[in-house]
Amino acid sequence: MGAFTLYATILLLHLLGAILWTGGHLVLTLSILPAALKNKDPQPLLDFESRFEKLAMTALAVQVTTGMMLARHYLPNPALWFAEAQPFSAIIKTKLLLLLLTLLTALSARFRVLPQLVAEASCHTRDKTNSHLLYTMAGHIVVVTLLAMAFVITGLSVRTGWLYQH
Ligand code: HEM
Repeated sequence: MGAFTLYATILLLHLLGAILWTGGHLVLTLSILPAALKNKDPQPLLDFESRFEKLAMTALAVQVTTGMMLARHYLPNPALWFAEAQPFSAIIKTKLLLLLLTLLTALSARFRVLPQLVAEASCHTRDKTNSHLLYTMAGHIVVVTLLAMAFVITGLSVRTGWLYQH
């Protein structure tokens, strides 16, 4: 396989992962979440999360792996990814910052908020704590979705020059 075909294949995988990660979170935010908030019922949200979790984790792993490979296509020496003299390093630094923020929010949702929401849902109590937790979870979901869109815009700026001028 020639160098260009390899690059194109990696870019295709990166785009498929982006579609899955960002698209899944948009469906969650725009379709599943409003219904859960309206009915004050976390169950549809929990069902979606448990079905989407494996796919989403696979997509994120693909994004990190292919993202690093694409970064090496532009700057083969990773030490240069952080060098101020390289305009392209703004893209990499932004992507890595978005990744850190995404991981922190996702871990907080998965290990702090979600277990409490599952416990509450199984008690069938619809008190104040329940809706407070539901809004905490909603906040996490919206943040991860906005970060996903920021990932897409940052990635696109390689072509558009928004973050980095050629
Ligand atoms: C969920 C996470 C991510 C999403 C949704 C995402 C999305 C995208 C999108 C839509 C593009 C535009 C591709 C194009 O213009 O053809 C892109 C490009 C790129 N992304 Fe990501 N990305 C993610 C994570 C990462 C990570 C972790 C890195 C590693 C630092 C990374 C590095 C890159 C690079 C270097 C490009 C430029 C590729 C090119 O146009 O040749 N991405 N990304």
